[in-house]
Amino acid sequence: RQRLMLDVDTGIDDSLALLYLLASPEADIRAIAATGGNVAARQVATNNLAWLELCGAPDIEVALGSDVPLTAPMQTSEETHGPQGVGYAELPEPTRTLSSRSAADVWVDLARKHAGQLVGVVTGPLTNLALALEQEPELPSMLKRLVVMGGAFNHPGNTTPVAEWNISVDPEAAKIVFDAFDEGTSAEPPIICGLNLTERIILRPGHVAELAKAAGLPPERIAADDPLGERSRCPNPVIRHLSDALRFYMEFHRAYEQGFIAHIHDPFAAAVALNPQWVRTRAATVDVELAGTLTRGATVADWVGMWGRAPNADIAVATDPEAFIQHLIERVGGYAAA
Ligand code: BDR
Ligand code: CA
Repeated sequence: RQRLMLDVDTGIDDSLALLYLLASPEADIRAIAATGGNVAARQVATNNLAWLELCGAPDIEVALGSDVPLTAPMQTSEETHGPQGVGYAELPEPTRTLSSRSAADVWVDLARKHAGQLVGVVTGPLTNLALALEQEPELPSMLKRLVVMGGAFNHPGNTTPVAEWNISVDPEAAKIVFDAFDEGTSAEPPIICGLNLTERIILRPGHVAELAKAAGLPPERIAADDPLGERSRCPNPVIRHLSDALRFYMEFHRAYEQGFIAHIHDPFAAAVALNPQWVRTRAATVDVELAGTLTRGATVADWVGMWGRAPNADIAVATDPEAFIQHLIERVGGYAAA
């Protein structure tokens, strides 16, 4: 089993990533770091605790991370993820408590304790990991693998015309992380799942109906014209809350002319963390624009060595999106039903 350290800004697609990992027998989640991003860090932590409790999952450590980026002003995205970060879902108030350790401390401690075995997955801003690198510069070579959802490569941004959300929230942190994998480290370069690929991972209402079916909702109870609506409510609480979250997320995508669908970036990165066979990657040297008045937060990839710097990233460039979606439905639906 893969020992995992998650760092998330839960978040609707982060929620689905967490459910996917809980549903995956290969995943051994050692801790979850909450970073401020889609919503404030404390709310992110509460959401993680609530999902864990709702799923009856083992007592996994949830550590509070930084609520603010290293130097940039804080931004959150309630418009995309709802006031609490989980769309229309009203998750029960968790009774579990937060870890007494900071997210950065947990990164460092777990990397040292499981040297060579820990797989890091970041689906939020990179603030906590940057803080951990400050404490332990050798951290990259202690990890078995690092997978990051972030950036946009030869592809438009989703926060500014050129910048993706996770990088845009804390570009300084992102630069620290990419720089940490520059020449001189024996670490495997991180696998970077950017919008160029994750915007192709498209969840449609019919997929949510399949999830509900897999979780035990009789097909005749699903309204074909409204599988996420009141009439199709799944008795299974995990899927019902997930569907309420996804309805909000799909409405957001529709408001931006993308149709009633959802790009589920983070579950894809989670799957790659468990099994890198999900992606074809291409090595590149990645740097983050910090100064540009129009381009701050852009991830710039040098694919051919123009900078004369060795590659510091494996950029995800191809996958089979529908195979992944089916795999996700099978896992999460089956887990919820169990
Ligand atoms: C990323 O931004 C967040 O809103 C999502 O959770 C995802 O991690 C996509 O740009
Ligand atoms: Ca996220």
